[in-house]
Amino acid sequence: MNPTETLSSDRRSILKGLAAAAVTSLAAPAMAAEGLPPPTGSAAAIATDKTYWAAVKGLYAVTPDIVNFENGYWGIMPEPVRREFIHQSDMVNYQNTYYARQRVGADFEAVRAKVAEAVGAAPEEIALTRGATEALQLLIGGYIRLKPGDAVLYADLDYDSMQYAMNALKARRGVDVVKFDIPEPATRQAVLDAYAHAIEANPKTRLLLLTHVSHRTGFVMPVTEIARMAKAKGIDTIVDAAHSWGQIDFHVGDLESDFVGFNLHKWIGAPLGVGFLYIRKDRLADIDRAMGDEDFAQDDIRSRVHTGTVNFATVLTVPTAVALHRQIGAPAKQARLRYLRDYWVSRARGFKDLEILTPDEAGSYGAITSFRLAGKTSKADNEAIVVKLRDSHKIMTVRRAGVARGQCIRVTPALFTDEADLDRLVEALAIVTGTKAG
Ligand SMILES: Cc1ncc(COP(=O)(O)O)c(C=O)c1O
Repeated sequence: MNPTETLSSDRRSILKGLAAAAVTSLAAPAMAAEGLPPPTGSAAAIATDKTYWAAVKGLYAVTPDIVNFENGYWGIMPEPVRREFIHQSDMVNYQNTYYARQRVGADFEAVRAKVAEAVGAAPEEIALTRGATEALQLLIGGYIRLKPGDAVLYADLDYDSMQYAMNALKARRGVDVVKFDIPEPATRQAVLDAYAHAIEANPKTRLLLLTHVSHRTGFVMPVTEIARMAKAKGIDTIVDAAHSWGQIDFHVGDLESDFVGFNLHKWIGAPLGVGFLYIRKDRLADIDRAMGDEDFAQDDIRSRVHTGTVNFATVLTVPTAVALHRQIGAPAKQARLRYLRDYWVSRARGFKDLEILTPDEAGSYGAITSFRLAGKTSKADNEAIVVKLRDSHKIMTVRRAGVARGQCIRVTPALFTDEADLDRLVEALAIVTGTKAG
């Protein structure tokens, strides 16, 4: 007996749908969100277009229990992406190894090509990873041009796991590891001077870690200028772009760095568990194969990542996330996120004892900005404020450590944030700072 004969007709049509879906699994959508018009006008006009952003907000299903300003952790999937993820999960589960043994390789190649095109790289210059951590660990750990006695440099604002990976180079490669502090307030010029000074003071430096957008303060580093400065001294840079692509409008070539690690599950809105690394074509030989990979040729960048079995559906959903990113457009996303950040910062800046850690300088911020209350630099101080915002005002933020001058609180709006959400944040900050009676 055919087992499907025992199924209801509803169930049979679902299964038929899944089978058909498998055949067209990667017919990449040009328009991820049908009916969402392209944004029009100048960046300033787009950023404040209420009708347009209400339509974008409508693409997200978000809990009404809290106003979430902790969107730096990861970026939830908009509904068209979430639906695609469920569809791909169903397809992979239904088709089983029959799909995976025959098709997944070619489908992943199509995903790689789409991501490469969107970021401005050749497909041979990128390899998919499970996130930015994996990408950057492979770049830092795999960089083979260091010899004992060389120095490597990084700063306090760099991400913890990348600091660990740089520290590990001491035992692994016999290098001196030098850490320095980014000045506060971080202005573009002060930061450029700090890097110039650190490079000058450590003439044996051969490798420098740079973070494009700081997850601690939101500061957007002038990475291109720093990478150029480093290159002039024969220093290679590895850029942590975990937070930047999708939040900030750029192509990988703009960074002028030969090694970059990216996320797709933050500001591109892909499902959790996907990112990629970039190695400029003529620099592949300077990054080692991942744990001696033998699946791919030495001159194939895919040999630089050896993950094992991944969540296929996550990767297969990336084209839809990238399509939506491109449908809204990187310039519009950047303009909107900066507007949202400016909206609350401009209203809260004068509040009693409130220190904003990211300057209002053009190009030095995106969505993320951190604050602290004067003198409140400890973990306990900042955690208490986060808890108060959450429990008394229904506002979600996060405490961030690792900034030389003390801990702080990070505020990260998302594309589904609107002015009413920000008004609520400003009101809460007025009360928490004692600017206004609660
Ligand atoms: C600057 C920075 N680098 C790297 C990462 C690591 O990203 P993931 O945990 O997604 O691999 C993060 C995550 O928040 C980050 O903010």
